[in-house]
Parts: sequence; structure tokens; C-alpha cells
Amino acid sequence: MDAFRIAIAQLLVDTFPSLTIEKAFEGVDYTSKGADFSVALPRYRLPGKPEELVQKVVDKFTPDEWIESVVPSGIHLNCFVSSKTLSRLVLDQVHALTHATASGEPEYGTNKSGAGKRVVIEYSSPNIAKQFHVGHLRSTIIGAFLANLYKASGWEVISMNYLGDWGTQFGLIAVGFNKYGSREELEKDAIKHLFDIYVKINADAEKDPSVKAEAAAFFKRMEDGDEAALTDWRQWRELSVKKYEQEYDRLNVHFDVYTGESQVGKASQAAALTQLEQMGLIKDIDGAKLVDLEKYKLAMAVVRKKDGTSIYLTRDIGGAIERYEKYKFDKMIYVVSSQQDLHVRQFIQVLKLLGFPWADQIEHVNYGLVQGMSTRKGTVVFLDEIIREAGSVMHEQMRKNEDKYANVHEPEATAEEIGISGIKVQDMSAKRINNYPFKWDRVLSFEGDTGPYLQYAHVRLASIERNNGELLPLPPPSEIKTELLTEPQCKAIIALLGTYPFVVEMTLKKLEPSEIVTFAFRLAHAISAAWMPVMVKGVEDKALAQARMYMYLCARDVLGSAMRLLTLRPLERM
Ligand code: ARG
Repeated sequence: MDAFRIAIAQLLVDTFPSLTIEKAFEGVDYTSKGADFSVALPRYRLPGKPEELVQKVVDKFTPDEWIESVVPSGIHLNCFVSSKTLSRLVLDQVHALTHATASGEPEYGTNKSGAGKRVVIEYSSPNIAKQFHVGHLRSTIIGAFLANLYKASGWEVISMNYLGDWGTQFGLIAVGFNKYGSREELEKDAIKHLFDIYVKINADAEKDPSVKAEAAAFFKRMEDGDEAALTDWRQWRELSVKKYEQEYDRLNVHFDVYTGESQVGKASQAAALTQLEQMGLIKDIDGAKLVDLEKYKLAMAVVRKKDGTSIYLTRDIGGAIERYEKYKFDKMIYVVSSQQDLHVRQFIQVLKLLGFPWADQIEHVNYGLVQGMSTRKGTVVFLDEIIREAGSVMHEQMRKNEDKYANVHEPEATAEEIGISGIKVQDMSAKRINNYPFKWDRVLSFEGDTGPYLQYAHVRLASIERNNGELLPLPPPSEIKTELLTEPQCKAIIALLGTYPFVVEMTLKKLEPSEIVTFAFRLAHAISAAWMPVMVKGVEDKALAQARMYMYLCARDVLGSAMRLLTLRPLERM
């Protein structure tokens, strides 16, 4: 697509010799508003009225192999590219960069802007023995997407899960485990069993203050590194991680590192505190230590409790320092709910006060709330409940159409995959910061801009090869007559395919998954609009049928790439 932009830039330079080609190029924008590219003339600050400048370009223009026509539209110059050149270049590039790359991996839509750079992305980060709530789910979905996006942009990515695996509650669980624990239950489902124990022992602690005291004493032993007090905890952690790994796998989410609050060393926390004290930033209030961030409108924050035990904030300060020492990242991203905006700002501010230059390379990717996600049984507590519910609601819906259902391969696994796609796409459809209400029927509908609709669009494209075997194998790309793709619907699809690499680059700037979701839907809609007028089946002219098939297969490749970037697993059949 840049080749077309250069052609337009050249036209501008020919008309206005004072412009440089670089400057002219920057002003050539993609547009979806009834043209392929559009140029807003005022941005060049040339002498004269914008409308007249536009007219000058129009007068200068003669059609060539790149640009078919230019049309004035107020202060804008709208440009239409040559369909013939567009089809040839875009489809061949999509094909080559999908099926004939040196790495053997599809590369269309990737770039090397991050080559040699390393990013640590922390996401999901649930708390052991507590609920996995929708906030964690959003962090998981958005974080996994960001990991893919950075990889697609050439970065080395370290995906990190920072578990809530430390704190006074683990003293409580230890007491509860002695009372209610079962090794067998623990092996079966550690996440659920620990949660149950936590609920029970909390109730006990409400009634009986000695339980709390016992728990506090136990946690003190853990903090002091008493091996006997840590053995059980280690197993809880290990078994919980194992279970989480299985569930993440179903979501197509993977971590390079499982760390957690427990892994943050005492030394780094203590050193940070001492330095803050020396800088006169610490206030003692009733034995607790607070860092004064009023100047930054970030309030006073406790960094050390009265009994000397560490807390969440201090662990984040020490944790960041250790991560830098270990990974020397060029960037570190925290995917954490906007409910924790203050917390994240506080620890970043403290790191800045401590004089770490890399504190400026930390980015908080936040997101809003989801209201009302529940299963039919009630509130969601565990991740596997969400996954199961998505699968079973979808399964029921699919069964309503008996004829279709009879042809579905592996209906349960397919239903789960579509269900998960539904949840993910819903989650990434709008700007991250927006809150949204959760509705299963909307999430799992095949109509409208939903995950199931994207899966359906992909399956339909995948079926083209299966249903038109007589056209296979396709001739080599150079022999396919792409000039036969003359319908406007073809041009719409191909132009979208051409913009995909640019969409990926833009998305890396904004870190908004909705950019990719929007692209995927625009492509799916363009394909659906072409489906009837641009048929493959039953077309007598074989060359024409093959050219069309080539286009649809390229569309499948790009839609599949966009879906994979969104962490979906594109289905071949449903
Ligand atoms: N475990 C925390 C919670 O569930 C989220 C952790 C976010 N990450 C961080 N570095 N503070 O609230």
C-alpha cells in the first residue's frame, strides 16, 4: 500500500515543488470514507486556499498504473487506486508472506519495529485461594493479545503471571487447612479446594478472634522463612499453577514466567525503604511507615505495616526493581484493572523518586469493569466455570439447529472454542477503559459483531477449498489472472487486506485490541458482501474461478492472522 501512497505523494510534489516527498507521503491517509486514500491539503501549510490547492492537483493529474482517479472533496483530495495493480500486488504479497516465508511462519502483517528490544508483559495475575474474577479474565485476554502484538512487531516478549500468593491470608489458610484440608481434594482441584477452605476459615475467624491470632503467628513464621511453615504453602502454589496452566491453555494463553508476590525478595524492598527514608519521604504514623506522595496528588501510601510485615505496594516496588535487574527490559507493561490506577501510579512514582531511569519505560495498560458476568448457577468464582459455561451455552444454541448440528465435527470442543471466541471478542470490541454489561446471548450470537460471527466467516472461507476441489491446485501466483477481479466487492476486500500491516502498526501505538477487532469485522463484512455476487462455485471460466478463489484464500489467511493475533483459534469447520 505504501507504493500507492508514494505515487500520490509524487503527484503532490509534481504539483507543489516546494514539498518534499517525505512530507507529502506523511499526509497521504488511508480512508474508509468512499475512497482509498485521502489527503487533507491544509496540513502542508502551502500558500493559497485549500480548495484551490486541491483543484491544482486534480488539474495536474493523469491516470497511470497506480492511480485511477482523484476527486476533490472540500479541503480533501480523494484518491482511487488502480484495481488491477492493487489486486496484483496485494494478493501476491499476502500469499508470499503467508506461504513462502523464510521462517516458515506466516509473516504478513508482522513488522520488525521492535527488533532487538525486550518487553515484559505482566497479566492475569490471580490470587491463590481467592476468586478468579472478571477483572482477572480481562487482564488475561488483553495481556495475551498484547503479547501477540509485540511479538508480531519483532519484540522479544516475556509473558509474566504475577500471582497473589503471599500475605496474611496464607496464614489463615494454613490454619484452615489443618482443620478442613484434604490432600485428595487438593490434588483434584487445588484452586477450588483452597477457595473452599478460605471461605470456611474466614467465617470461623469472624466468630473466634483466636483464629486470626493463630493465622497471624503462622504467617509471621512464613515471612521469617521457617521451612516447616512453608512446605504446605509450596504445594498449594504448585498445584494451583498446574491447574491454571490447563485452563489458560484452553484459552490459548501461555506464560513464560510464573512469579508472584512471594517471590519478591526482602532485600530489594528493604533497600528501597531505606533509600526513601534517607530522602526524607517516609512518615512514621503509629509505627507504620508511609511514603508521602501528596505532591503528586497520589496521597500517602503505607509501605510497611506496624508489625513489620510487607505489603502489596512495597512488593510491587521491590518486584519492579528485581525485574529490571533480571530482564533489563526496554519496556514493562502491567495489565491491571483501572480500579488499581492509584496503586500502580503510586509504585511507578516511587520508582521515579528512587531515581530509576527505566521507571519511564513502565506502562500501565488499564481497563474498565464488566458488570454482571455470572453462570446460570450464580456468580462466577472460578475460571473453569466461565469456560465451561461458555461452551455449554454455545452447545445448547447450536443444538437448536438440528440439521446443522448433525454435521458439526467434535461438537463439544467446537462449542467451547466458539464460546471462548465470543467472550474474548466481546471483551476486546470497545476501548479498554469502557465498562460493559455482560450478556451471554449477545456474546454468543452468530449475528452482529461477535466472536461466533468471526469464526463463522473463517469457516466459510475455509470451506472454499473443500467445496471446489476441481480448481486445485491453483496455478502459481504469477499465472493467476488477478485482473479478472473487477467487481467493486473484490476491490473492497483487497484494499482491506492491503491495510492490515498498517492496522497492526497503528495498534501497537494505541495498545487497543479494538483496532484489530474492528479490522476483522470490516473484513468479514466485505467478504460477506462479496459472497453472492462474486461466486466461485459454478463459474464456467476456470481462470476467473481460480482468481476468485485466490482472493478468498488470501482473505482467509489475513482474517486468520487477525483472529490469531486476538488469541482466537480460527476454526476450519463448524
Ligand atoms: N493479584 C492482584 C489482584 O488480583 C493483581 C496484580 C496486579 N499486578 C501487580 N503487579 N500489582 O488484585
